[in-house]
Amino acid sequence: KGDPRLQAISEAIRVVPHFPKQGIMFQDITTLLLDHKAFKDTVDIFVDRYRDMDISVVAGVEARGFMFGPSIALAIGAKFVPLRKPRKLPGKVISEEYELEYGTDCLEMHVGAVQPGERALVIDDLVATGGTLSAAIKLLERVEAEVVECACVIGLPEVKGQCRLNGKPLYILVEPR
Ligand code: PRP
Repeated sequence: KGDPRLQAISEAIRVVPHFPKQGIMFQDITTLLLDHKAFKDTVDIFVDRYRDMDISVVAGVEARGFMFGPSIALAIGAKFVPLRKPRKLPGKVISEEYELEYGTDCLEMHVGAVQPGERALVIDDLVATGGTLSAAIKLLERVEAEVVECACVIGLPEVKGQCRLNGKPLYILVEPR
């Protein structure tokens, strides 16, 4: 924090009121991806933080974790592992359910993608309740990987002041405007 790049990153994220439903202030990171400088600064901040942490796996959460994770993985010399919504991955998977406002959803990971003892970073665009990231942490821990940290571009006030999830550190770049 105090990094002058963060304000421009925050301002590059479009806020769309009442999307996808009434009362939700949608944080649209597609406009951040359109701004080359802000997009590169976002990836660079994560890369500078994680490059010397001996991370071998970047696990990205569908869908918007896929937009940041691979760039970070390539730059820090790690592999990229997609954590996907149900029935998208063709191989043998393990699954973790998590609570939504109404009902549940699920994330899946390919068996064999991550080996025991690997050091993992989990990346997503946004954390709200933390349910999604908690499921991601559980998937990695079930295969005996070590989750070094979870990282998001935006943290909603629900997790404000919370710097850990399931006992794992949580790193957030900006809060909603
Ligand atoms: C959004 C966001 C995170 C999750 C955060 O994804 O991209 O993955 O919600 O919410 P939480 O902290 O309360 O779990 P969404 O469920 O909209 O899925 P999508 O990216 O596949 O559209």
